[in-house]
Amino acid sequence: MSEHIVTQQSGALRGEVSLYGAKNSTLALMASLILTQGISTLRNVPASSDVLQMIALLKDLGAQVHLVHHVLTVDTRTINSYQVRPEIMKKMRASILAMGPLLARFGKARVAFPGGCMIGTRPIDFHLKGFRAMGVQIEEKGSFLEAHTSDVYAVENSRIILEYPSVGATENLMMFAAHGSGTTTIVNAALEPEVLDLIEVLEAMGARISLEPVATIKIEGAQVLEPIDREVIPDRLEAGTIMLATSILGGEVTVTNARSRDMELFLSKLREMGHGISVGDGGVGVTILASPAPRSVNVKTYPYPGFPTDLQAPMITAQALANGVSVIEETVFENRMMHVKELQKMGAQISLEGSKATIRGVDVLHGADVVATDIRASSALVLAGLAAEDTTTITGVHHWRRGYDKLEDKLASLGAKIKVR
Ligand code: UD1
Repeated sequence: MSEHIVTQQSGALRGEVSLYGAKNSTLALMASLILTQGISTLRNVPASSDVLQMIALLKDLGAQVHLVHHVLTVDTRTINSYQVRPEIMKKMRASILAMGPLLARFGKARVAFPGGCMIGTRPIDFHLKGFRAMGVQIEEKGSFLEAHTSDVYAVENSRIILEYPSVGATENLMMFAAHGSGTTTIVNAALEPEVLDLIEVLEAMGARISLEPVATIKIEGAQVLEPIDREVIPDRLEAGTIMLATSILGGEVTVTNARSRDMELFLSKLREMGHGISVGDGGVGVTILASPAPRSVNVKTYPYPGFPTDLQAPMITAQALANGVSVIEETVFENRMMHVKELQKMGAQISLEGSKATIRGVDVLHGADVVATDIRASSALVLAGLAAEDTTTITGVHHWRRGYDKLEDKLASLGAKIKVR
């Protein structure tokens, strides 16, 4: 039988937890190691299944990879393939992040479309347009993309204007640009903390990168990129989920290594709800002292430093149990409201028009059998289940596993009644 998450109504959360490194940052940093020839170490790596999937990708290319107690070592000297197989590509959209580094290392790359043909070229069109602007020839052959440059140091001076600050496109193009002799300018770049983490890593490898107004990243490539040893930045999305659980269940929780600068707007929304938020020395360590009667707030998702789309789903659960009416609008992804139907089954009063949810807070939710349809939907349902009367059973556990490494144990250590079985 497939696994499911079982939650029961829980009381106030209390205690301290620390975060693993950001899953989204880890994936990009792992891809960037393809640029190097040597042994690199990444620390505080979450063993979430997306990370395990990226390990499989690197091994398939020929790398030696070990993940022991959240320390990942990758020996990239043995990488001998420039091809990412469709079986790997279709399991995880972030596999496309291998394209830039493979092009840089081999002067060519052969990758399948992420997620298969069904979703077409649109979701990676910014990546492809950017590569083409940097002189890469790309041909679509069936479900494959075959890309090549005239030589491995072919990156010439180029200027790319992204039509949207895509996180993945910014990362992919930066990685390609880091290896070569030219200077690449990316305008309207994404500036998420995970992108900044990648910038620091590429600098540590030897590239020269500067940030310029407005939302512009300038990359001067290096001919040789050195291996690195680096701790991944703490996961602001894991932090947000734990803090929203506390907002819903009450209590006082400290997330010891959360960086307040990565989540300023999110923290200001928690304050607006009436919660006490305090930040440790140097902006590290965030404590939430939950209000017994949190107020509704409105939220619209945007690229960073706006409200993160990845916290929209659990924020909807928090609003479903707050006092008043809230409007939450998703602007980053068109189809990211699938948790709403499941929350409605639990008694949440939500009306949905396209990507805009109007939520009237209720006093109590009811346990139900619900389905998690994506990573962040799974966290929304876990939070709802912990607040709901009786028992909630959530299927689609693989989504929870993709995004979080044993977050159920961290929540349980704070007093939540949650089991995965
Ligand atoms: C990353 C994160 C994901 C987060 C998202 C936005 C990783 C592994 N995942 O995803 O958790 O929700 O940023 O913060 O880091 N788009 C196109 N064409 C493209 C690229 C993107 O149309 O070529 C669209 C997407 O469909 C979406 C929007 O742009 O509507 C933003 O996507 P993007 O920032 O690229 O997200 P990802 O990098 O995939």
